[in-house]
Amino acid sequence: MFDSGLGGLSIWQAVTRALPDWPVTYLADQAYCPYGPRSQVEIAARTLAICRYLADQGASLIVIACNTATSAGVDHVRAALSIPVVGVEPAIKPAAAASRSGRISVLATEAMLKSRRFESLVRRHAGDVDVLPRPGVGWVEKVEAGDLTSPDTRRLISEVVTPLLSENVDHIVLGCTHYPFLAPLIREMAGDGIVLDDPAEAIARRVVTLINGKTPSATAGAPYRFLTTSGDPHPMAAVLPALIGHRYAVESRPLP
Ligand code: DGL
Repeated sequence: MFDSGLGGLSIWQAVTRALPDWPVTYLADQAYCPYGPRSQVEIAARTLAICRYLADQGASLIVIACNTATSAGVDHVRAALSIPVVGVEPAIKPAAAASRSGRISVLATEAMLKSRRFESLVRRHAGDVDVLPRPGVGWVEKVEAGDLTSPDTRRLISEVVTPLLSENVDHIVLGCTHYPFLAPLIREMAGDGIVLDDPAEAIARRVVTLINGKTPSATAGAPYRFLTTSGDPHPMAAVLPALIGHRYAVESRPLP
């Protein structure tokens, strides 16, 4: 699995719960994080390089646990690799189908909201539901730092969520895998009348379907490994307990 950073751990949690016997290597591309402000071309190239690396390491399936990387790069990765590749996309289809007010908001990175894939998702799945796209400015950095509750984090979330309260939206789609870690604060500010749509469980079901009852090979190794492309593995190791409630060793894998 990989993400630009630690957000994909929201998907990791759902996948490892659904498949507790499967070894999972999680790679955080922290040397390039955040992807949000980067160009589609750069994100696509990076996504392909990382997926090639994971395939060379013996991955039998790759989850691109990042909406931004999926939108820019999943087609290239699928064309280049012969193993199954699961991507993640904002849950616009189920949110629009369930909306009663006819207005939903999608929170995602700038790159995701500017991508052709986003435009196509809205065109294909929103129907006559209004979609209000909003970037979570500064949110990714807060999750990377494990800062999920400070006054500054509250301020950044409030700047996006509070104005939505007067927009009559009844669904907020969490279209960046970092954002579920901020869901408790988003929920507190949005109140109970707004549904937060998080794709993690749907991705886990998709992975279970593709694994289709197979068992891991005997040589697969340690159950969970964590890699970062940053030269220093300590910051990621320090933040893991705040995000997934457990300490793990982190290995440094600077990828060119
Ligand atoms: N977690 C990523 C996503 O789902 C992107 C965060 C970033 O690097 O900007 O889009």
